[in-house]
Amino acid sequence: MNYPMWEIPGIGGPWVIGIMSIFHVLIAWFAVGGGLYLWVAEKKIYKENLDEWLPVLQQHSRFFLILTSVFGAISGVGIWFTIGLVQPEGTSTLIHAFVFGWAIEWVFFVIELAAAAVYYYTWNRIPRELHAKVGGLYALSSFLTLVIINGILAFMLTPGSTWLSVAGTGTEASAFWPAFFNPTYFPGLIMRFLACLSLAGIYAIITYSMVDKPELEKTKRYMVQWSAKWLMPMVLLMPLVLLWLFFAMGQNSRDILNIGFATIGSGNFSVVTRMALLTILTTVTIAGVVYFFAYKYPKDLTTGHAIALLALGAVATASTEYVRETVRKPYVIVNHMYSDGVRVRDVEKFNQNGFLTSSIWAPQTADSIARGKAMFQGQCMACHTTNGYRSMTKLMQKRDLKAINQFLQMLHKPTADSPYPKYMPPLVGSEDEIRDLAMYLETVSLGDKAQGMKVVKND
Ligand code: HEC
Repeated sequence: MNYPMWEIPGIGGPWVIGIMSIFHVLIAWFAVGGGLYLWVAEKKIYKENLDEWLPVLQQHSRFFLILTSVFGAISGVGIWFTIGLVQPEGTSTLIHAFVFGWAIEWVFFVIELAAAAVYYYTWNRIPRELHAKVGGLYALSSFLTLVIINGILAFMLTPGSTWLSVAGTGTEASAFWPAFFNPTYFPGLIMRFLACLSLAGIYAIITYSMVDKPELEKTKRYMVQWSAKWLMPMVLLMPLVLLWLFFAMGQNSRDILNIGFATIGSGNFSVVTRMALLTILTTVTIAGVVYFFAYKYPKDLTTGHAIALLALGAVATASTEYVRETVRKPYVIVNHMYSDGVRVRDVEKFNQNGFLTSSIWAPQTADSIARGKAMFQGQCMACHTTNGYRSMTKLMQKRDLKAINQFLQMLHKPTADSPYPKYMPPLVGSEDEIRDLAMYLETVSLGDKAQGMKVVKND
């Protein structure tokens, strides 16, 4: 606990990050796919003499510019705020491990935003070929932002043995490239790029669905059909890429999905598996709707259909993000740092020297409940809330102090057959601190009744 804790009642920190990321990812993926779309579509219009469609594309580029530069930029900064507050230790590690990666990323961002503005404001003002080239620059720079960020996101899931072997030695920079091009780099990049292309097609279909001039009817049908084809790579390749990703990630991550498959319909934990299935189902539905309403019978396409597609896209993105977060449990950086910010190599140190005693933020008090609460904030709140998401009150199931202590010992020194280490970090700290945590959890578990149970402590 090197940082103060930000307690968010109800939904908890993970969902604040989750909501922010889903919002951002939907826009950022569109920025990457949409940039490419505008470039290719503009060249197509010139080549096939579809000039009557140019005003529609210009309209689309206006929507594009506002959405990606305003909301994309704001939500991107929002992500920095939320991960910095909820996961300061993990965020700090990502910043340090990829200093030059981030610097390069921001260079591409600046080029991307500048190119987007130039692109929009120079329609009909500079030669067509040159304008298309500005579009090409935009497409390239936004693709390169994905190339960089994908390395850092994939790193959290599979940092790779080279980086892990130098982590904490001060020479992490020597493993920059293996950390960047880590085992899930390429399947992750292709998965994200396929999603970018699909979103570009969906957003274009939304703009086009609003065109109702009779003289544009024929071109509209043609362009809607063409935009529908932007989803084809995803439909054909996504299952293969997801399978590739599944085999490229670590054993523990695969196990988390497998536990879900094994307990489907019964265990709580299969939520992650249901989310994975939801991704597949929504993707198939999107493909079906696009095929019938945009490709086969484009005349029947309404703006309602088009917006429904985007809503489905949002569900697919949200469930994929949920799975991505969950298969990484109990880590924020797999095999290096647990979700509570404790480094794997520091576990023994905390057990010997104490967890709270190593923190400048822990309350300096002899009050067991206050110290127990600090333990909870430092080690459980990364995934649980007292009363809302993954509620402690509920999960404690009215355990009394003795049962709580037994449970905590299982988290502290897990046996080989314990299921908990697959999704919860080991509980670290001195025996006294763990007893304090138990006393705090008793008040959460039993509420007011806890006061009467104090005697059990002296068993
Ligand atoms: C990395 C995330 C994470 C952290 C950190 C974490 N948990 Fe959990 N915990 C989970 C998940 C996931 C479940 C399963 C959730 C469910 O069943 O709804 C769970 C389940 C539980 C359960 C119910 C398990 C059972 O078999 O009864 C208890 C109790 C619990 N956690 C206590 C704790 C305590 C106490 C801490 C802090 C010392 C903690 N957890 C830290 C993720 C975490």
